[in-house]
Parts: sequence; C-alpha cells; structure tokens
Amino acid sequence: MPGVRGPSEYSQEPSRDPSLKVNAKASTSFFFAFAEPFNAEPPRSALVSSYVTPVHLFYKRNHGPIPIVDHIENYSVSFTGLIDNQTKLSLKDIRSLPKYNVTATLQCAGNRRTAMSKVRNVRGVGWDVSAIGNAVWGGAKLADVLELLGIPKLTSSTVLGGRHVEFVSVDRCKEENGGPYKASIPLSQATNPDADVLLAYEMNGEILNRDHGFPLRVVVPGVIGARSVKWLDSINLLAEECQGFFMQKDYKMFPPSVNWDNINWSSRRPQMDFPVQSAICSLEDVQMVKPGKVSIKGYAVSGGGRGIERVDISMDGGKSWVEASRTQKPGRDYISEHSSSDKWAWVLFEATVDVSQSTEVIAKAVDSAANVQPENVESVWNLRGVLNTSWHRVLLRLGNSNL
Ligand code: MTE
Repeated sequence: MPGVRGPSEYSQEPSRDPSLKVNAKASTSFFFAFAEPFNAEPPRSALVSSYVTPVHLFYKRNHGPIPIVDHIENYSVSFTGLIDNQTKLSLKDIRSLPKYNVTATLQCAGNRRTAMSKVRNVRGVGWDVSAIGNAVWGGAKLADVLELLGIPKLTSSTVLGGRHVEFVSVDRCKEENGGPYKASIPLSQATNPDADVLLAYEMNGEILNRDHGFPLRVVVPGVIGARSVKWLDSINLLAEECQGFFMQKDYKMFPPSVNWDNINWSSRRPQMDFPVQSAICSLEDVQMVKPGKVSIKGYAVSGGGRGIERVDISMDGGKSWVEASRTQKPGRDYISEHSSSDKWAWVLFEATVDVSQSTEVIAKAVDSAANVQPENVESVWNLRGVLNTSWHRVLLRLGNSNL
C-alpha cells in the first residue's frame, strides 16, 4: 500500500477532544470484537461560536479504524480505469498544482437522525444537530489534477468511456466486508472548476489530521459528506457510478412507506446534493429560560451551492414568523448568491425574541431556489434516518436559567 494503510483494529486511534459527544466508542480493550468506529459531534453551542468550525470540534464520521501513514514520502494516489494516462501522483505532485482555499460546509446525511428516530425506529448513528461543520479546505482542484492527466475541463466522458470518478480509500469497513470505503461523483462535476471539488491536504490552514483524512481527502462541496472520501488511495475512471456499499446500499432517500422487508435499493439513486437545512444551536431541546429576551442562534445551509435567502423564526407553532439576521464573515452583511458570499458554506443566523411563557421555538430556512424545509419530520421519515431537514424545534420552559 503506497504510504497509507488501514489497520484492522482500534489500538492506534488518534486522541480526540473530550467535549465531543461520542455516538459509538472506539475501544483499545482486549475485546476488539466490540470495538466500533469513532463517531462524535460537538455540543450544539460550539457550532455557533465561530463561522469556521475549529478542527478539534469538527464532527467525526468513520466506518472503520483510522488509517496510518508510516512514511509520508512514499505516499501516492493512483489513477486507473478508463483513462489513457494510468499513473501515480505523489503529494508533492498534487501540492505543485495551484492551491485553492474553499470554505465549505460538510454535513453527514444522518445529521438530526435522533429526532427522526422518535417518530419510528431508524437504523444508523444517532446524531443530534451537530453532524455538520464549516471548514476552510486547502488543496488542488480535482479539475486541475484530471487536466494534468489529459482529461480537459468540463468533460463528461473520457475517450475510453469514463463518466464517473471513483475515490477509494484504505480504511477497512464492516459494510464492505473489510474492504475500503469508496464513492464516486460524475466526471462532469469533477472536471468543472466551478464545482470546487478538491483533493484537500489542509483543513483550516493546518495539515489535515488523521481523523479528517491525512494525508489526502476529497471534498465535494454542497454534497452529503459521504462522498468526500478520506485517506485517498486511488481514483478510478468508471463507465458507471461506484458500486460500493455506501453508494448502492446506503445514503439513499426512501419514501416513508419503504421498510426493511420491501426495500429495493436499486430503485433509488445515491443521494448527492443535500437539501436546505437549519438548526437552532444556542438552545438545547428543552431549555430553561428566564422571562424576557432570549437570543436564538443557529446555522442554515443548502446543497448544490445554493445560498440562504431567509431564516424564519416562529414562537407560535408556525402561525407567525420573524426573520433572523444572517452572517458568514463577522462584520459583513451576507447576501445570498453574491460574489462576496461563500457559496458552499453555511450562514449563521440570529434573532432575539421575547419569552413570557413556556413555548416552542421553530427555525426554518429558505434557499435561493425558494426550497423550504418541510414542516414535519413524519413527511420525510425514512428507514435509514437520512436527511431530516424538517423545521427545527426546541422547547423553552420558564424557570431558573443562566440564559
Ligand atoms: N471516507 C472514508 N475513507 N471512510 C469513511 O468512513 N465517512 C464519510 C466521509 N468520508 C468516511 C469517508 C462520511 S459518511 C462523512 S459524513 C464524512 O466523511 C465525514 O467527514 P469528517 O469525519 O471529516 O467530518
């Protein structure tokens, strides 16, 4: 394996911030059979304390033990499949291409799954609202890398018939029967410089850490996190999309009527762009507050590079709404779809409301295509618990509080 390898057990996991809420714990115990991949999210309040999420507080979603790089100088990524120029590129080759810093929000498709599981049981890691983070990813554009290998910009098929770009890692995943995690995106997206797909080696100006994909990961902005493959080993040009578990048997959106007895995985396409989403982060689900003014803060984001047009807050179950203010970079107005905005990044919102009785606070966002979050989680319930983008609700109770 060129420079990076995937261990089969969890004895060499990196250290993590103790404030992260762990959803399944890695174990260094003797009983490796019980060890689980490390999945953790920060407390809600950490998300709204800065536009760019600090690396140590960024959610971590893994399907196997974290890979190890023994000799970084030996690391290379191979390019295979339906491409004339089958070759390997070292990290130095990739770093020698123009470097881009793209501010992009990564969101797990399972974000807010726990709330969906309250309607009916779902399978998957139980996330609150923090399986999401916003980072400045530094790296080479995949469009430039592919051009270096003879595939021009804005290409939808290679001469040999390659139409999809598959990313393969080295981690060992149960779901792949011990094989590596993999996923693909269309070649037209990979070769579009405006899609900003990166082979990233930095996160927030620091070298990527092991949890987030050291030495090299893909970042596919505006698309569910599952397609941003970490610990890259190879990139393959395929005629059809990747046939891996996480493209074909997971991360698909089914209607509420589908259950584990009647599911037909091939009837649905792999989820790519994420829908419009928002969540209140300054308040817990049941929050004690004193009567008076309460500040409501949270994030809103949409997929596919769509901006956030509006965030509405309701204190009366959705009968009336007030509009929250939106920001990205501190001190600057956010304008949806404007060149001064980070098109792949979330906006942070804030509204101050008057609370005189126990009540529910609701947030809903509207994106630049006028897509609106659905009112009820029931209408988007699905057996894998993905894409819970329903109105976000928290209960406020009057009482003793430091808010
Ligand atoms: N890449 C590999 N190789 N292995 C993984 O388990 N998890 C995916 C994606 N890339 C995964 C992966 C999922 S489901 C998500 S949501 C994001 O990585 C999480 O990225 P993060 O851990 O850097 O936040």
